[in-house]
Amino acid sequence: MTRRPTPPTDPRTAPSGSSGWWRDAVIYQVYVRSFADSNGDGVGDLPGVRERLPHLAALGVDAVWLTPFYASPQADGGYDVADYRAVDPLFGTLDDAVELIDRAHELGIRVIVDVVPNHTSEQHPWFRAALAQGPERTRYHFRPGRGTDGELPPNDWESVFGGPAWTRTTRPDGTPGDWYLHLFAPQQPDLNWDDPAVHAEFDSVLRFWLDRGVDGFRIDVAHGMVKAAGMPDIGAREQAKMIGSQVLPFFDQDGVHTIHRAWRRLLDTYDGERIGVAEAWAPSAERLALYVRPDELHQAFNFQFLTCPWDAAAMRTVIDASLAATGSVGAPTTWVLSNHDVVRHLTRYGGDDHARGLRRARAAALLMLALPGSTYLYQGEELGLPEVSDLPDAVRQDPSFFRSDGQDGLRDGCRVPLPWTPEGPSYGFGDGGSWLPQPEEWKRLSAAAQQGVADSTLELYRKALTVRKELPGLGDGAMRWRPSADGLLDFVRDGFRCTLNAGSAPVELPSPGRLLVASAEVADGPGTGVVLPADTCAWWAI
Ligand code: GLC
Repeated sequence: MTRRPTPPTDPRTAPSGSSGWWRDAVIYQVYVRSFADSNGDGVGDLPGVRERLPHLAALGVDAVWLTPFYASPQADGGYDVADYRAVDPLFGTLDDAVELIDRAHELGIRVIVDVVPNHTSEQHPWFRAALAQGPERTRYHFRPGRGTDGELPPNDWESVFGGPAWTRTTRPDGTPGDWYLHLFAPQQPDLNWDDPAVHAEFDSVLRFWLDRGVDGFRIDVAHGMVKAAGMPDIGAREQAKMIGSQVLPFFDQDGVHTIHRAWRRLLDTYDGERIGVAEAWAPSAERLALYVRPDELHQAFNFQFLTCPWDAAAMRTVIDASLAATGSVGAPTTWVLSNHDVVRHLTRYGGDDHARGLRRARAAALLMLALPGSTYLYQGEELGLPEVSDLPDAVRQDPSFFRSDGQDGLRDGCRVPLPWTPEGPSYGFGDGGSWLPQPEEWKRLSAAAQQGVADSTLELYRKALTVRKELPGLGDGAMRWRPSADGLLDFVRDGFRCTLNAGSAPVELPSPGRLLVASAEVADGPGTGVVLPADTCAWWAI
């Protein structure tokens, strides 16, 4: 495979064939409502993203992934879609979406959009019609309740956000009716993928956006569309805590792969190597690898890496398992440390000690960018943003915050709008306020404050991405561990060495090579040696 080519000006006209651009692409996640606000209403939007594309071009990313901007009542930050082909007025217009895609392509940045196929919004015309007893009912999961009067849910499944995964309907005559399934909020009824109309509709939705030039889809809940036959009880509570460690009758069922294969065939009818990326919480690296078999999707987020603690041995185990599993099906591994659903990694690694968290986050970024495969960055990690852990309850919007016994409900803390400048009502996010309050110290972390400052996190990311592009030994390909002491991760690739000191004491490295980039200052040791401080990662040319 050739090294990452310069992206064509317009991937829609790129010659077909196999550049495999996605195998080692650095893809930047834009959480649209929190990226940049062009009209001062406090919510980020598509023109805001377009205006800030130069930031992404200067960072050196290959592609951007945009979270849902479709027409939606916003019960779950847009993951409750009422019209898959329309842009929500909150975020702009369809023309804004097309202009954003075109402008990104002009800058050599590919565009991936979210598709949400597991559920619609309760406001989707299909679900409205289904509630009115229309034939669209078969496109969702309606079941009679248990108990003498159907007053109990059809089974014991729990919503990922907490509480039962079923809500009882009211018949048009006002009497209590059947229940419907929603693995997430009640406003997100699950679609029934046994109904051919659902398949046909999503084929059409994918084509709609492919025809507008998108380079791929991040597939929301790609592990959820198929439910086990008969929808059996699980017989255990706190099911949300089992996600990612065991197969549940509503997640990671083998049947989902048939859908992904069909989507791959559809993607392959377009030129320019359009990709599918699975958001799949699978219980093991092996099960995750099934999503990226040669005739399925191109990438799957590696959540085992994301959830791994700051521990060299644990990280090495995850890295080995991930590479072995994806390698067994010929796919690249896709590394990720943060996204809009989890506590930012700076805070995961450092708790309230932001300085320690930042040291580790910077080191983790270098580790991740040195590993073979593709990398996803979450907006703001290039600024070293911590989680905002002290948001007042009154401003929280995460639907799981309002339900119990599910996710922790604290996903707002990683969604606080970005600071772009040290001044302004929302630190350059927009001319108005921001839909979640930004901490005052974020002015210091704004992009403008870090621009050109040699030891800033922004400049570290820029440098790492530049080196990654220039060094033929980085990106896709192989790596080999060097023997190393406890607390160290040390590996080589073609002409390249990466050393992470995840331990608590500095480590002397004799002649590691020529320093390319380091997450903290590396001091001279005896002779040609150097001292790598704790919580530091360095890249060397060898
Ligand atoms: C995915 C999204 C998350 C959303 C959920 C339901 O996990 O990343 O934000 O709440 O799906 O659509």
